Amino acid sequence: MLYGKTVVITGVSAGIGARTAELAVSLGADVVGIDINEPKDHCAGFIKGDLSHPEGISAVVRQLPTRFDALLNVAGISGKVGAEATLAVNFYGLRAFAEACAPSIREGGAVISVASVAGYGWRANIERAKAMVGEPGFPDIKAVMQKNGIPNEIGYPLSKELLILWTQKAAHAPLFKDRGIRVNAVSPGPVDTTILKEFRAVLGDQKVDSDIVRVGRAATASDIAPVILFLASDGARWINGANISNDGGLEASINAEVLGF
Ligand SMILES: NC(=O)c1ccc[n+]([C@@H]2O[C@H](COP(=O)([O-])OP(=O)(O)OC[C@H]3O[C@@H](n4cnc5c(N)ncnc54)[C@H](O)[C@@H]3O)[C@@H](O)[C@H]2O)c1
Repeated sequence: MLYGKTVVITGVSAGIGARTAELAVSLGADVVGIDINEPKDHCAGFIKGDLSHPEGISAVVRQLPTRFDALLNVAGISGKVGAEATLAVNFYGLRAFAEACAPSIREGGAVISVASVAGYGWRANIERAKAMVGEPGFPDIKAVMQKNGIPNEIGYPLSKELLILWTQKAAHAPLFKDRGIRVNAVSPGPVDTTILKEFRAVLGDQKVDSDIVRVGRAATASDIAPVILFLASDGARWINGANISNDGGLEASINAEVLGF
């Protein structure tokens, strides 16, 4: 499915990113992995870097291949460290990195970001999301939070709301669209990785357990990786600007509750 393609994967040293890299290799891709932490297993194309600030992003971009087929934005943090740092990694850093990578992505290539069912509120909070996504480049996040009255506790869901909105806008932005680069997102519910323990601390056991009960179990990274890679493949050539729920039916269950069907 990915034979001969080069894919760049952020967050490659753990959880969903690590599994996605492993599967990509078995499907014939060359992988360039990026993470702030070293991977457990040796990875030929590994670049160590911090994607939470402009200097870290530039340093990684300088080491990337001049041409690749897909960028998979998997790196993310739970919100435990506060909204400013969370928005820096999960949204503003991710977007700045994707925009910096765009000229190196081959015509007809793809950008896939891991969002979350936690970003479900993007429609309900659309004016806030529009204002925050409308801040160009890598803004002064503290100032943006102040301007939009953002409390520290909502950093994680907010970061994913912004990511889901940006995905739809980016699909039609000349930077990507003019070269046929598709921009999509995958939204998991709870996935059994190290971040899930942090979600329990941030959101509370009750919220996490109720999401798991709705669909019978937490996902594994192996449930998520194939969907990310499908979106990077030519089989997904007509999917653009989409946010694919990959959650065992969690979003459908929330829709039923919110919309009363
Ligand atoms: N696990 C879940 O329940 C769940 C649910 C929905 C969405 N997600 C999303 O999936 C993605 C992957 O999460 P995971 O479950 O694999 O978590 P994880 O903690 O296992 O992996 C995240 C990886 O991102 C890396 N990373 C963090 N900050 C970085 C930075 N500044 N620069 C470079 N790399 C950085 C970490 O070192 C780690 O290797 C995240 O975006 C997360 O929000 C996870």
